[in-house]
Amino acid sequence: MQGAARLAGMLRDAGGAVVLTGAGISTESGLPDFRSPTGIWATVDPMEYASLSAFRRDPERVWSFYRLRVELLAAARPNRAHLALEKLERRGLVRAVVTQNIDLLHGRAGSRDVVEVHGSIRTSSCRRCARSYRLEDVLERLARSTGAPRCDACDTVLKPDVVFFEEQLPAAAIERAFELAREAPLLLVVGSSLEVYPVAGLPDETLAAGGQLAIVNLGATRYDRAAALVLDAPAGDVLESVLEAL
Ligand code: APR
Repeated sequence: MQGAARLAGMLRDAGGAVVLTGAGISTESGLPDFRSPTGIWATVDPMEYASLSAFRRDPERVWSFYRLRVELLAAARPNRAHLALEKLERRGLVRAVVTQNIDLLHGRAGSRDVVEVHGSIRTSSCRRCARSYRLEDVLERLARSTGAPRCDACDTVLKPDVVFFEEQLPAAAIERAFELAREAPLLLVVGSSLEVYPVAGLPDETLAAGGQLAIVNLGATRYDRAAALVLDAPAGDVLESVLEAL
């Protein structure tokens, strides 16, 4: 795949790219993305099940959606794309991975510097008394009851520590993501439609600072014209070919 060879050359020349991943890097792990024709938002209204106002209105209903998500994500395994990024990091060709994904798969693949800008399923919290609960505790509650997981101390329904629509992103994570993008000689986007801000603004930061942009994504994105390289191909194929070409 000559596109992968070009990308390998760009990674070598950059000497420390920043990678921005979206749901498309996890589809090979059996996790649906959001906006492709078979994506989650094709059948589920995010404002009804993944927004802060929906959670305030009816937390049990939001958990009827998140119960399935948390159980599916927790059971998923990193795929060859996640594993390839870990190898590139180990070889000094990837400085950090900024991910919009909440599935913990980059960390489980062994990547060390991962910036989770939309939070993750690692913990859920009680918004009333601020107690934090590990994924294992939440899964145990979900297995024990058909209802939403509740706080041991005040019986309030827990909220997954993922960013809902209408919710602020974790400040430290998004600040670091913008700093990384500004400093990146190369920003490699893998498996994201680049539709959701502020994360979709990261390529602008890199380009404005004189860095290059490369995109590996099935389907077009609004940044394709500004990218030095666009590979409309499966992330796993491309990243494995990149490793072979290095
Ligand atoms: N290889 C490459 N690209 C892929 C693959 C694959 N194997 N599978 C899917 N894709 C592409 C899809 O075609 C789509 O363009 O990945 C992209 C995923 O885009 P989205 O579904 O919009 O996911 P993402 O960009 O991560 O969404 C951002 O939106 O709903 C919120 O919080 C949610 O973090 C998410 C954010």
